[in-house]
Amino acid sequence: MTTPGASLEANLITLRDPGSAAAEAYRTLRTNILFSSLDRPLHTLLVTSSSPDEGKSLTLANLAVTMAQAEQRVLVVDCDLRRPSLHTIFGLPNERGLTSALLETTDGPLPVQRSGVPGLIVMTSGPLPPRPADLLGSRRMGVLIEQMRAGVDIVLFDTPPVVAATDASALAPRVDGVLLVLQAGHTRRDRAREARQLLEQVKANIVGVVLNGAKLERGYSY
Ligand SMILES: Nc1ncnc2c1ncn2[C@@H]1O[C@H](COP(=O)(O)OP(=O)(O)OP(=O)(O)O)[C@@H](O)[C@H]1O
Ligand SMILES: [Mg+2]
Repeated sequence: MTTPGASLEANLITLRDPGSAAAEAYRTLRTNILFSSLDRPLHTLLVTSSSPDEGKSLTLANLAVTMAQAEQRVLVVDCDLRRPSLHTIFGLPNERGLTSALLETTDGPLPVQRSGVPGLIVMTSGPLPPRPADLLGSRRMGVLIEQMRAGVDIVLFDTPPVVAATDASALAPRVDGVLLVLQAGHTRRDRAREARQLLEQVKANIVGVVLNGAKLERGYSY
């Protein structure tokens, strides 16, 4: 495990200003996710969007912090093997990560790192592979998902946009739920619908939609 960088508070509103409206919105989101499937608790949740730059990674990171603040043990995994960003958000090195674990043939400890937030650990992407969708849909990934969920209360997976690549669709059927992030005033309606259809085609369990960036005085809200 590595010690985290100093930029964490600057990046995450839930750490910088837990009393803000944005942090409160994340707590509401956490509660809604908790109650979204009472009979089948969510242990693995994938976060995606229809298009790039809709705030998936920051939403995932803030949600993870909020869950950890409620004493859940949380693992975030960067499955965006095209434009990974969790290592940047958490200020961590990315020499080893998910792709390292995918390429190893023996079951060692997972290449996770401490985030600096108690209860929250991070698996960065690792070196970028040539065909991400194949890796994410592989049998090895299935084995890793089992290993990931065994150690924590919830695993959150960051992915590329669902309309741009098949990566999120490859992973979506293997997780308990999918959260779709939309950017207010930015996501086109037809794109959002297409994203939903692509996810439904692979029988993903869409548990909710986050409307990101509805402007408030201090930035983020839902
Ligand atoms: N609610 C918001 N208000 C203003 N800016 C935001 C908001 N959410 C995200 N951003 C900004 O948008 C950019 C993209 O955010 P982020 O990396 O979380 O998006 P993403 O959907 O994960 O992108 P990618 O498609 O590259 O994975 C960042 O520069 C971030 O600061
Ligand atoms: Mg991202």
